[in-house]
Amino acid sequence: MKGIVLAGGAGTRLYPASIPISKILLPIYDKPMIYYPISTLMLAGIRELMIITNPDDLSNFQKLLGDGSQLGMKFEYAVQEVPRGIADAFLVAEDFIGNDDVALILGDNIFHGHGFGTQLKRVVAHNDGATVFACHVKNPKQFGVVEFDRHQKAISLEEKPANPRSDYAVVGLYFYTNDVIEKAKSLKPSARGELEITDLNNIYLMEDKLSVEILGRGFTWLDTGTFDTLLQAANFVRANEETKGEKISCIEEIAIREGFIPKDELLKKLNPNLRNEYYEYIKLV
Ligand code: DAU
Repeated sequence: MKGIVLAGGAGTRLYPASIPISKILLPIYDKPMIYYPISTLMLAGIRELMIITNPDDLSNFQKLLGDGSQLGMKFEYAVQEVPRGIADAFLVAEDFIGNDDVALILGDNIFHGHGFGTQLKRVVAHNDGATVFACHVKNPKQFGVVEFDRHQKAISLEEKPANPRSDYAVVGLYFYTNDVIEKAKSLKPSARGELEITDLNNIYLMEDKLSVEILGRGFTWLDTGTFDTLLQAANFVRANEETKGEKISCIEEIAIREGFIPKDELLKKLNPNLRNEYYEYIKLV
């Protein structure tokens, strides 16, 4: 399975902070925001990623992440010239996906919870169509919303509904079989001019090929699109890391633990002059 991190968009809600640099490169406490979605795909066992950026930020992402070999991974890059919608990612990445299945994660989504890696690997092994995840939220109007019947089977999906039919948001992490490319090509732009991920998921729902996994109470999902949620996320990561002494979404640690690269090889590739707390932590993994 291939993975896509969608890290384009203008990020205007975080202006002026995101004028000179993509919001997805801004720090969430002790690491850039994009480390969090990358780590989620790594936990799913995915080693080949495409990072989709806007034209201005491509070189910054490349400078930060390189070709991925430092993590035993392979990173490719593509530019989305204008934010044509989340589902546009499958058109931009068509050649990269090839004949594989694919996972898509939004660059500003953070996931953290016990057993998530195991859950993700199960989804990768069993997905037949589309698998998405739902999380209970206070403000469903701001998200894609999924409605369930009494057997917890999804029966409707709506993008940012004025009158949500449930309090469950569809989060920004999606797994698809290879037919997603053809389905994405069949989409028409919505009223706001975007190829909507919710329209794409609705095709799978209509074909009875959509699975929705609920992320329960013990799970944390954060969409870091505003100043408030950015600070909330930083505080969450700091509180966790401080009390536990274990980092959240340290991609170097995950690369070692997942067996993507032997520790000594990873350490050899690190600049020996980097001695801050983040790098000292990696040495102790
Ligand atoms: O966070 C989960 C939500 O993400 C879902 O519940 C919604 O169904 C889904 O539409 C999306 O809603 P957002 O309002 O958060 O989407 P937004 O337009 O903010 O885009 C999310 C990220 O994707 C953002 O970091 C920018 C990037 N993006 C977005 C678009 C539309 C791109 O790179 N290119 C794009 O064309």
